[in-house]
Parts: sequence; C-alpha cells; structure tokens
Amino acid sequence: MTKRVVVTGASSGIGAATVRRFAELGWETVAVARRLDKLEALAQETGAHVIQCDVTDEAQVALMAEEVRATGGASGLVNNAGGALGADPVETALNDDWRRMFEVNVIGLRNVTAALLPVLREATRDGGGASAPAVAGAGGPTGVDAGHGWASILNLTSTAGLASYPGGGGYNAAKYAAHAVTEVLRLELAGEPIRVMELAPGLVHTEEFTLNRLRGDAAAAAVPYANVTPLTAEDVARVLVGAFEQPPHVNQDLIVLRPVAQSSVFHTHRGPLTAKG
Ligand SMILES: NC(=O)c1ccc[n+]([C@@H]2O[C@H](COP(=O)([O-])OP(=O)(O)OC[C@H]3O[C@@H](n4cnc5c(N)ncnc54)[C@H](OP(=O)(O)O)[C@@H]3O)[C@@H](O)[C@H]2O)c1
Repeated sequence: MTKRVVVTGASSGIGAATVRRFAELGWETVAVARRLDKLEALAQETGAHVIQCDVTDEAQVALMAEEVRATGGASGLVNNAGGALGADPVETALNDDWRRMFEVNVIGLRNVTAALLPVLREATRDGGGASAPAVAGAGGPTGVDAGHGWASILNLTSTAGLASYPGGGGYNAAKYAAHAVTEVLRLELAGEPIRVMELAPGLVHTEEFTLNRLRGDAAAAAVPYANVTPLTAEDVARVLVGAFEQPPHVNQDLIVLRPVAQSSVFHTHRGPLTAKG
C-alpha cells in the first residue's frame, strides 16, 4: 500500500505546511479542515485529496473516515486541528472560549482518532504504511514483526500542554488534556503495530493562530513575534514528517520543539543572539 496520511487542520499554518512536506517526500495526502477554498488551493499545489470536515462534529467525522477508506485508506494520521481563544485570566475568562478550545483540541482529536483507527488497522493488515525495519534484529522481514504493515498517529499539542502560564488557562487545560489523551492512547494501543507520537512546539509564527486567539487584533498579535526568530510552520512540518520517516518500529513519544531564542515558556530572548565572552 502507498504511504497515505490524513492531516487535520490542513487549511493553514502548520497543517498546510505538513501536507506540503509529506507531498514533497512522495506521500499521498488527505487534507481535512472546514474551509474548502483553502483546501482546494492546497490540492492544486500538492495533489492532496481534500475533505471538508468539522472535527468537532461526529457525523461529519464519520463521513470523512468513510471517504478516506473509499479513496485508498490511510497509514498515517496527524491530529493538528486546534487553536487558542483568548488570553484572559481564569477569573474573567469566557466559558464559551474554554468550551470551544476543549471541543477542537480534545474532543476533535478523539473523534478523528476513533473514526480512523479501523482504517489505520486495515493498513497494517494490508502490509502497508511504511517499509519493514532495516535494522538487523529489530523485526525485519524475518523478525517478530514480519508479515504486517505499520501505522502512525501524531498529535500536535504544544509546550502549553507541558507548562502553564498566566492567561493560558483554557488553552493550557485543553493542550494538557490532549497530551494526556496521547499518553493514554499509546498505552491502549500497546501490542499493535501503531505508533503514537506527540509533537509539542513552542513559539511558531503562523498567519492565523495568534490573530484568532486575540480576536483579530493584528497589533497585539504581532507582539509575541517582535524582535525574535520564532519557528515557522515549515520548521515544524520538517520535524513532524521526519518522525513519520523513521523506521516504523521507532516511536518518538514526545518531541518538544522550540526556537533557540525561547529556552522556556517564560524565557524568550528578544534581540540578536550573541555568543557570551
Ligand atoms: N502557532 C503556534 O505558536 C502553535 C504552537 C504550538 C502548537 N500549536 C498548535 O498547532 C496546531 C496548528 O496551529 P497553527 O499555528 O497552524 O494555527 P492555524 O493556522 O490557526 O491552524 C489551525 C487549523 O485548524 C483548523 N481547524 C480549527 N478548528 C477546526 C475544526 N473544528 N474542524 C476542522 N479543522 C479545524 C483550521 O482550519 P479551518 O478553520 O479551515 O477549519 C486550521 O487549518 C494547533 O493545534 C495549535 O494549537 C500552534
């Protein structure tokens, strides 16, 4: 079976860059999001199969999974759809923002994972996914892993799911939850040839993420990226796709990725980087 991967949240930012990177390396891609015009532009560029779908809507997700199966199946899934709404203190935060963040970052991830797991399992039975490990003794064609294919799931969380910060309340809670769900899933799939990976980026400059978070306030949205070199969507995509390109028995449980200028959630160096002394 050809290597085929479903990427959610593919209409912009990290998701779109991820589809481009997979396509560059010869993967077939299925790009999923709500905005069809953006998906169609990406399809023109990359040949992706596009499916319009709101990941928080179980009925739409079920139809999406059926279409994935009917058009060639999938051996990979990237749960990238997500985002932040608001940066208010816990005391004054809006519950609707918190509900929407939990819906997309956690329930959406669960919906898509549950719907596509049977499709991923089919890929492992078809012998698809990735080529057999090349490492001697690690389960090559004559090892314990002979006779089946492999599948991969990667959840795009955030360093906001590993460290809390003031104003992060709802987003921290949602991404901590996504981090926990990823760990649970890895435990629950133990014994299957399906790896479960997590990529937690720090500061990434994408066009829409902070603008959406700060309700369209472009001046405020520029502040986190001022006088610093953040990660780009392409940086994240390169590392993300690299995890899928590892031999299939290699599971990168948790990849934390930050720009050099950001040594923690609370330490972002503004201005040029210079060697000491
Ligand atoms: N930018 C950062 O600094 C950063 C850092 C760490 C982690 N992350 C995480 O990385 C992921 C991508 O972020 P990004 O920076 O690329 O932001 P982005 O450009 O805003 O991308 C978010 C994507 O999610 C999709 N999406 C949102 N709600 C959806 C829904 N209900 N159903 C289906 N798709 C939905 C959006 O497409 P539609 O609107 O077309 O549906 C969009 O394609 C997110 O999970 C984010 O939390 C971002």
